[in-house]
Amino acid sequence: MTILDTATSRRTTRKYNQTPVSEDDIRYVLETIRQSPSGSNSQPWQVIIVDDPSAKMAIREASEEGERAFYESISPERKKGYNEKGLNPSKPHLTEAPVLLVVLGDTPAPNYRPWVWVRIGYAILAVEERGLSTVTYTPSDPSLVTKILRAPEDYLVEVVLPLGYSDDPKPKEPRKPVEEFTHRNAWGHRGHLPNSQ
Ligand SMILES: Cc1cc2nc3c(=O)[nH]c(=O)nc-3n(C[C@H](O)[C@H](O)[C@H](O)COP(=O)(O)O)c2cc1C
Repeated sequence: MTILDTATSRRTTRKYNQTPVSEDDIRYVLETIRQSPSGSNSQPWQVIIVDDPSAKMAIREASEEGERAFYESISPERKKGYNEKGLNPSKPHLTEAPVLLVVLGDTPAPNYRPWVWVRIGYAILAVEERGLSTVTYTPSDPSLVTKILRAPEDYLVEVVLPLGYSDDPKPKEPRKPVEEFTHRNAWGHRGHLPNSQ
């Protein structure tokens, strides 16, 4: 599979079956993200593998507490929009998925967030390449999840990636065609764009 094949076939999964995730697959994802670049090669991140059911439950409860507060803080229209997409404060996938990979950023490192997110992008593709699925879950109150994990003060959870085999019938969401977001030399000059592959 090429990277394009992997990127094309992947989609978000919020329902998982109980097939276990192998240690080999977890290692593969970790080795892939290890290769991700960062500014000055500072590598301002840590990863926590969570497979203990009570630890997953604690993460789910902390996440849902943050989500409830978030949903109470937003406008009814926005809430409706989320509900229409099937999103709400309940996060059962955090206990359903056999494994959670939690990526934390080293917050005093300058400009750490874009670098952490490059790493998360690598992780998402590596997960797909191994036939696994995930959802890029960004907790509404990451400090609650960080506390559960007993991470040092400098670290903050950026993402929780459930790892597992998909039981989610939801199709991949459509993407804009290249021609709709690409310009040449300056904004608005579509000009001649590279041919499709
Ligand atoms: C940076 C980022 C943050 C996201 N945060 C969440 C999230 O907090 N909860 C969630 O259920 N999905 C989250 N998603 C998943 C997106 O909703 C999903 O990728 C998007 O709707 C496209 O669907 P697809 O991945 O199936 O193509 C996030 C995705 C990205 C890239």
